Amino acid sequence: MLAVQCTSQSNDDPLTGLSVRDVPEPELPEDWVRVQVRAASLNHHDLWSLRGVGLAADRLPTTLGCDAAGVLDDGTEVVVHAVIADPAAGGGDETLDPKRTLLSELHPGTLAEQVVVPSRNTVPKPSVMSWEEAACFPTAWLTAYRMLTTRADLDAPGTVLVQGAGGGVATAAIAIGKALGHTVFCTSRDAQKRERAIELGADLAVETGERLPAKVDLVIETVGAATWEHSLRALRPGGRIVVSGATSGPAPSADLNRVFFLQLSVVGSTMGTKEELVGLLELAEGTGLRPVIDDVRPLSDARAAFERLADGSTFGKLVLTAG
Ligand SMILES: NC(=O)c1ccc[n+]([C@@H]2O[C@H](COP(=O)([O-])OP(=O)(O)OC[C@H]3O[C@@H](n4cnc5c(N)ncnc54)[C@H](OP(=O)(O)O)[C@@H]3O)[C@@H](O)[C@H]2O)c1
Repeated sequence: MLAVQCTSQSNDDPLTGLSVRDVPEPELPEDWVRVQVRAASLNHHDLWSLRGVGLAADRLPTTLGCDAAGVLDDGTEVVVHAVIADPAAGGGDETLDPKRTLLSELHPGTLAEQVVVPSRNTVPKPSVMSWEEAACFPTAWLTAYRMLTTRADLDAPGTVLVQGAGGGVATAAIAIGKALGHTVFCTSRDAQKRERAIELGADLAVETGERLPAKVDLVIETVGAATWEHSLRALRPGGRIVVSGATSGPAPSADLNRVFFLQLSVVGSTMGTKEELVGLLELAEGTGLRPVIDDVRPLSDARAAFERLADGSTFGKLVLTAG
């Protein structure tokens, strides 16, 4: 079968380790299921793997990819849940299992014609969604959903700032934030992306670092060092930053004076549970919320999609189709 693999890793030139090639079909362990992939989407995680972050060199070569939608051997149409973990080991939340891995870290990923996953790692695909749309939910969209619900812990709609409007998690956060009834401010370095964010429903889009017209209850942070100071300054007393990524760097000044004086909360978030994925799909089905898709290509054209991911010019998700 055709698969998109990581064969070597380079921090400076990650795409040198990308290979689109024929590989043997995966074996099916007991209590796992086979998914014939119809569509899979890319995430920054795939680029980190090619850079040598989060994927051990002794696992190479391996198939990349966390997100997919496809068909089980019995014909059921499913969305894959990428968190391979035991809920019991995480106190009922599999994202807190100390042995948690994401598809492609320990087990071959979704950027292939087939992927095998534990049987608990699929959920029904809503029939109103296309394969391409369904394939966008399991990582960036699920991450944004958990950040805005479980980890935000807001009792009522409020004002939310989303940093770095063009990213996969950020575009999801803008759309989900609006579907949940929040007022959504966002930032982007790029005027065109700010325009797209407004089209997506954002109430305000300003240049990265620009002063906002009002303090916010919650910041959705994935950019990291480049926006952290602005995120802290944007919060009202008692406000909260939920952080799930640090694309521009992981070690900004913590500005502890501001954190304790204004009694701010800084909360980490990663992926989401299977129940949260079901909740997100129900929200999408009920409200008409759909992922923003930047581009769709066949699996064989994966290199061109990775080039777009690496150059940061995308607005929304990059999707590969198979089957
Ligand atoms: N914890 C999890 O479960 C989880 C899940 C998914 C993703 N992530 C992480 O979250 C991060 C975001 O991933 P993503 O795929 O959504 O998007 P991404 O492609 O990494 O981009 C995020 C946004 O960051 C902004 N940005 C990047 N460099 C910047 C800089 N130097 N200065 C200012 N802004 C900058 C850009 O926004 P503008 O161009 O609009 O300014 C970009 O669109 C990644 O680090 C990823 O690994 C974590």
